[in-house]
Amino acid sequence: MEHVPVLLKEVINYLDPKANENFIDATVGEGGHTIAILERNKPKGKVLGIEIDLSVYERLKESEAKINKRLILINDSYVNLEKILKENDFQSVDGILFDLGMCSWHLDESGRGFSYLRDEPLDMRFDYENYLTAAEIINFWDIKEIEKILKEFGEERYGHRIALAVKEARSKERIVGTKQLVSILKRVLPKDYEKGRIHFATRTFQALRIAVNDELQIIKNGIEQAVEILKPEGRIVVISFHSLEDRIVKNIFKEKAQAGKLSILTKKPIMPSQEEIKNNSRSRSAKLRAAKII
Ligand SMILES: C[S@@+](CC[C@H](N)C(=O)[O-])C[C@H]1O[C@@H](n2cnc3c(N)ncnc32)[C@H](O)[C@@H]1O
Repeated sequence: MEHVPVLLKEVINYLDPKANENFIDATVGEGGHTIAILERNKPKGKVLGIEIDLSVYERLKESEAKINKRLILINDSYVNLEKILKENDFQSVDGILFDLGMCSWHLDESGRGFSYLRDEPLDMRFDYENYLTAAEIINFWDIKEIEKILKEFGEERYGHRIALAVKEARSKERIVGTKQLVSILKRVLPKDYEKGRIHFATRTFQALRIAVNDELQIIKNGIEQAVEILKPEGRIVVISFHSLEDRIVKNIFKEKAQAGKLSILTKKPIMPSQEEIKNNSRSRSAKLRAAKII
């Protein structure tokens, strides 16, 4: 599937790349936003792109030489932002983008169980050095802990019911694949789950992915470091894909604004147009917030 960067026009509008400015793409993924930035910060501006997933990184790295000499790619987590900048002597940063979560490749091609529409091993790791997989959580975590992540990270109101069903199922056999998990969910969730607005497995899969990759903890940490490393007038743009992430971004922006460190550029989150949603259904839950360093 062709990769379409989410809210591209809006990202460029708020990051506002100009000739010779330097940017960080903290979640470079398939490089869609990065390429658009590189088009605009010619001839000497650079982009430092960080990608946690080795497979995604390697795919992009292959085309790095072709893409641009002004692109520096790093396989690491943005949670190590300050360290990465020091190690690469990357200074004077005019803007940073966080486009959170997974990319289309994870869903469509990774084979790691990110999609409830496929039958794949329950893995969900971005980083293979991380020992924790979705299968580990489902088969070995205390049922109360499973219920807790379903409620907290999935905002799943049927967390208790699902946790009990998992307990029963795993007492019979190991739950190793996405299809197995989906059929357990199907058995216990109402037929008209959320009136058909979302697939009944959406919240459970979201919760597992967040838990496996410790996603919520690192967002705050990453943004805090970003605020410290940006130049005065530096721009920070964050795209999130669910309300938990958006709340974290909103709160940390508010906190930093109150501390006099930044001014918020988006009173309300920017969302994709109907047209973008029609062309790219994955953009439908995206919310963009932007701020400028004082
Ligand atoms: C939504 S995609 C980014 C898409 C990208 N903006 C583009 O246009 O192609 C998010 C990417 O961030 C990566 N990622 C997730 N957590 C990360 C982290 N802690 N540090 C760096 N990259 C991360 C994921 O592996 C994924 O490739």
